[in-house]
Amino acid sequence: AGPCDIYSSGGTPCVAAHSTTRALYSAYTGSLYQVKRGSDGATTIIAPVSAGGVANAATQDSFCAGTTCLITIIYDQSGRGNHLTQAPPGGFKGPESNGYDNLASATGAPVTLNGKKAYGVFISPGTGYRNNAASGIAKGDAAEGMYAVLDGTHYNSGCCFDYGNAETSSTDTGNGHMEAIYFGTNTVWGSGSGSGPWVMADLENGLFSGSNSKNNAGDPSVSYRFLTALIKGGPNKWAIRGANAASGSLSTYYNGARPSVSGYNPMSKEGAIILGIGGDNSVGAQGTFYEGVMTSGYPSDATENSVQADIVAAKYAVGSQTSGPALTVGSSVSLRATTSGFNTRYIAHSGSTVNTQEVSSSSSTALKQQASWTVRAGLANSACVSFESKDTAGSYLRHYDFTLQLNSNDGSKQFREDATFCPQAGLNGQGNSLQSWSYPTRYFRHYSNVVHAASNGGVHTFDATSSFNDDVSWVVGASFA
Ligand code: AHR
Ligand code: AHR
Repeated sequence: AGPCDIYSSGGTPCVAAHSTTRALYSAYTGSLYQVKRGSDGATTIIAPVSAGGVANAATQDSFCAGTTCLITIIYDQSGRGNHLTQAPPGGFKGPESNGYDNLASATGAPVTLNGKKAYGVFISPGTGYRNNAASGIAKGDAAEGMYAVLDGTHYNSGCCFDYGNAETSSTDTGNGHMEAIYFGTNTVWGSGSGSGPWVMADLENGLFSGSNSKNNAGDPSVSYRFLTALIKGGPNKWAIRGANAASGSLSTYYNGARPSVSGYNPMSKEGAIILGIGGDNSVGAQGTFYEGVMTSGYPSDATENSVQADIVAAKYAVGSQTSGPALTVGSSVSLRATTSGFNTRYIAHSGSTVNTQEVSSSSSTALKQQASWTVRAGLANSACVSFESKDTAGSYLRHYDFTLQLNSNDGSKQFREDATFCPQAGLNGQGNSLQSWSYPTRYFRHYSNVVHAASNGGVHTFDATSSFNDDVSWVVGASFA
């Protein structure tokens, strides 16, 4: 049985079931998600390999070979048509044209389930999915439950990495108008013990960790690589539960009455569904989503415990983050452009500016050093890499406003994430494409000889689709200095 079969048996059926990694009903053979590729804008659907099985990642890999892909639709497996698509502007605008949010890269969150490759939904700040016309989701004070499997190591303090029930208008309509799982280190409203990240409930105008509207020490910091996060709520009762999604059982972090602050008892839920954003389309947060469901009715702890056992049996594990020629940590490299007419130019720096320059064996020693980089283990994820300047020790290539800069490592989480890149097989068939770990739709790209973290089509001039594959493909060679 899958998670939604278990919820059905418990009398609290799924009314939304979303996953890019697997079927959530044992008999489900339908669509899991849709991807759209950059080369020609064509779309395809990814389904389970077999009834109740893992997503057919091979379909995605062949469809997206030699180009980029975005996740355009996350289908609802419950039969209610509660699909998630690109979130529209609301109280806040997203970064895409017309204020829409960004779509997630299809390759940002590789995993395996029982040894079989699949991809999760890697939400960078600015990315969000929504359904403002969902059917069957709890409204008013009606009871519901929900869980999500997340990456407990991918989070930030922005508002708000959520999955669950929100406003149908994409605007803040007041206390109690949401009931969603939140995960991260935001402390504007509530918090738990330690320094986070925490699983909390976003009930609108507040992230709640228990009965107190601020700190509740019973809500622990949790950072399992695979995290089961669970919220449920009904008339004057709600609970937060969590677990390692790869082993063990659920713990209850809170179980009790609604917050005493006015507006949350009774609740005024509206029944839209959000992923990766706040109720008012706040887009500052990041996180990774693998699967999640929402139920009708308040699930029993026993039902949820069985769901957790099913998640553990799915055997989530880390997938390979890299492809193409290997970059050896500790080696010194040069990075040569491959676009015709530019393929004698190398990534170099002039102070903090990162550009491409003509470099050869007869160049000055200074220029040779400016175009030489030491490969380091990725500062935010050791499965990927960072590039330290040969002539400015302690300074690394990082993106800032999606343009590369050479900056000294200030030790912050932001810096480490901005400076981590995952080498992929070059999109034009040559060398490597260097995919940003924190914004996996973005790659090292030269544009007017300046290097950016560019997406294939986007609002910046440097996101131009023309010659994208060539501009993001680099031959990694021995360093000049
Ligand atoms: O409740 C926290 C956030 O506050 C909500 O997600 C958002 O709608 C509002 O800004
Ligand atoms: O490059 C995009 C973002 O811009 C970086 O993550 C951040 O450091 C800056 O605000």
